[in-house]
Amino acid sequence: MSKEKQLEELRRVVLECRKCKLWQYRRNVVFGEGSPYTSIMFIGEAPGEKEDLSGRPFVGSAGKLLTQLINSIGLRREDVYITNVLKCRPPENRDPEPDEIEACRPYLEKQIEIIQPEIIVTLGRYSTKFILEAAGTTPQPISRIRGTVLRLKLRFLPREVIVLPMYHPAAALYNPRVRRYLEEDFKKLRQCIEHRIALKEPVTLDKFFNTT
Ligand code: URA
Ligand code: SF4
Repeated sequence: MSKEKQLEELRRVVLECRKCKLWQYRRNVVFGEGSPYTSIMFIGEAPGEKEDLSGRPFVGSAGKLLTQLINSIGLRREDVYITNVLKCRPPENRDPEPDEIEACRPYLEKQIEIIQPEIIVTLGRYSTKFILEAAGTTPQPISRIRGTVLRLKLRFLPREVIVLPMYHPAAALYNPRVRRYLEEDFKKLRQCIEHRIALKEPVTLDKFFNTT
């Protein structure tokens, strides 16, 4: 079955999902969008108000910044795939709760399995924790791990994948320092894409953090 078909089938299931309490508050499920054949996936946290209203990921102010950053390295949103850890908006944009992340987990895992990206960019601490846990690795604070090119074997993928954790773009809106980090990390992403540096010289978590 084609990747489009597989994603469409999964989307139909997720649109009806009531596995956690968030279904009661949503106006739309935000499944994710982009090219099924991309090698680059961006994973955020959860839909906000604009996303809940439109059913599309990253269309509010954080989304505007994310789109700018994607464009800044010569890509369009349609060239990548963008989704979130949670597919429904938490009330008042509160943080995702562990039971919600657990209930929603199979959907993101399946999306990654279908798309089989070469590079996963995690935006913020929730998606970073999700992916590090899927690699059986100890979660690291985002302030420490952001901008680090990792090569990880995720439980549900047959091959290793490049993981590049970054701050969440919402955190950059009112914080110039975080914004500079994001801009730097996108340059690193461009290097990874253009030269496949990461593919040739993988930096593993163990190598990076246990150097003494
Ligand atoms: N923040 C996210 O994490 N995801 C969105 O889709 C929008 C804002
Ligand atoms: Fe289902 Fe995920 Fe929405 Fe919860 S957040 S209702 S698990 S789709």
